[in-house]
Amino acid sequence: MNLIKPYQACDQRYKTKNFYKRCGKSGIKLPKVSLGLWHNFGKNDDLQNQKKLIQTAFDNGITHFDLANNYGPPPGSAETNFGKILGDDLSAYRDELILSTKAGYGMWEGPYGDFGSRKYLIASCDQSLKRMNLDYVDIFYHHRPDPDTPLEETMSALDHLVKSGKALYIGISNYSETEALKAIRILEGLGTPCLIHQLRYNMLDAKPQEDVLPSLFQAGVGSIVYSPLAQGLLSNRYRNAIPKGSRAERKDSPFLSHHEVETHQSIIHNLTILSEKRGQTLAQLALAWCLRLESVTSVLIGVSTTEQIKENLKACDHTDFTEEELHEISRICQKD
Ligand SMILES: NC(=O)c1ccc[n+]([C@@H]2O[C@H](COP(=O)([O-])OP(=O)(O)OC[C@H]3O[C@@H](n4cnc5c(N)ncnc54)[C@H](OP(=O)(O)O)[C@@H]3O)[C@@H](O)[C@H]2O)c1
Repeated sequence: MNLIKPYQACDQRYKTKNFYKRCGKSGIKLPKVSLGLWHNFGKNDDLQNQKKLIQTAFDNGITHFDLANNYGPPPGSAETNFGKILGDDLSAYRDELILSTKAGYGMWEGPYGDFGSRKYLIASCDQSLKRMNLDYVDIFYHHRPDPDTPLEETMSALDHLVKSGKALYIGISNYSETEALKAIRILEGLGTPCLIHQLRYNMLDAKPQEDVLPSLFQAGVGSIVYSPLAQGLLSNRYRNAIPKGSRAERKDSPFLSHHEVETHQSIIHNLTILSEKRGQTLAQLALAWCLRLESVTSVLIGVSTTEQIKENLKACDHTDFTEEELHEISRICQKD
C-alpha cells in the first residue's frame, strides 16, 4: 500500500503582497525571488530533498523555476529530475508555472552541440522538452553569445521556437549591453519581442547597474539576476569555515574555490555587521540590494535546504537603502 500522500500546494501561496513584478513591458509577472536548478538538482543529489525544495518554493509563491540543458551533473540530469518532480507533484499546476531552459554551452559532441546555430538551438530545445516531459517551455534562452554565428541566425532560431509553439517567450543570457540591444532589435523585427535578459549581478559584481541594467529597462526588457549571493559567499554559509556539502567543498562543482572563500572573509565579516544593523541576515541584505533597483525583475537564487528558501524570501520585506548604506556597501566590497 502506498502511504505517501500526493502533494497538494499550500492554499496561502499567493498571499504575499507585492511579490510579483512585471517583466519589462511584457504581460508576464515574475516572482521577485525565482529558483534556479544549476546546483543541487543533479544525479548525485537526493531526489527527496529536490522535491522538498521545489514544493517549499511553490508553496511560498515561487512560480518561476530556471533550468538549462547542461545543468547537472551530468548535463541534462537537472532537467530529468525536474521532469520527474513536475510529473509527480506539479502537473496539476502547470499553468501556474513559468519554466525556463537554455542552450548555448557545450552539450553534445561534434560541431552541432554548442554555441548558437539554428541546428543546435532547435535540437537542444527538443531534447529539453523530452527530458522534462513538457509540450513547451515558458522561456527559452540563448545561454551565451556566440562570436561566430550571425546574431540574425541565432535570433531567428529563437523566433522559430516561439512560432512553432515550443516556447512562449524568448530570453538572452550573458550578453553585453551592445549585444543585448542588437538582439532585442532583431527580435523586435521578427515579431517576437525579447522578454528578459539573465545576467550576473551581486554586491561583488555591481558593474551591470552602470550599463546593461539601465539599457534593458529603457528598452522595456526584464532582467533576472543570477548568483545574487555570489554562489553563497554573500551569506553566512562560509562565515566560520567551509562546511561539508557546501558548493565550495563539493568535488562535483568546480565553480566556487576555497581561494575565493578565503579571500572574501573580511568582506563577508564587514557586510554581516551592516546586515545586522538593518535587521537582516547577510543573504537577505545581498538579495534586497539587488531588488532595490526598479530595473531588476527577479533575483534568481540557488538553494540546498528549505531553510535557505524561507530565509531568502524575507529579503523582500526590506529593500530600501539609504545613501549611506549604499556607499558603505560599495566601500566594503571595493576596498576590503
Ligand atoms: N545564465 C547563466 O549563465 C547562469 C549562471 C549561473 C547561474 N544561473 C542561474 O542562477 C541560479 C542561481 O545561481 P547560484 O546558485 O549561483 O545563486 P546564489 O543564490 O548566488 O548561490 C546559491 C548558493 O548559495 C547558498 N545559499 C543560498 N541561500 C543561502 C542562505 N540563506 N544561507 C546560506 N547559504 C545560502 C547555497 O549554497 P550551498 O549549496 O552550499 O548550500 C546555494 O546553493 C542557478 O541555479 C541558475 O538557474 C545562470
